[in-house]
Amino acid sequence: MYVCICHGVCEKEVRGCIQEGARTEDAVGDACGAGTGCGNCLERIADLLEAEYGPAALTAG
Ligand code: FES
Repeated sequence: MYVCICHGVCEKEVRGCIQEGARTEDAVGDACGAGTGCGNCLERIADLLEAEYGPAALTAG
């Protein structure tokens, strides 16, 4: 299932970026491009970050 339609990035790829060390939406964007287009998928990316790192992930910068 795609997370980011603009860049054709699927959930598995986003999870892979997160597991390789991306801790923020920006870092995920740098790693795979997800979230760097229209921004509609940022909430979904945030959910995946939160699933991996917990609620503190989004305030950690
Ligand atoms: S859907 Fe991800 S940036 Fe547009």
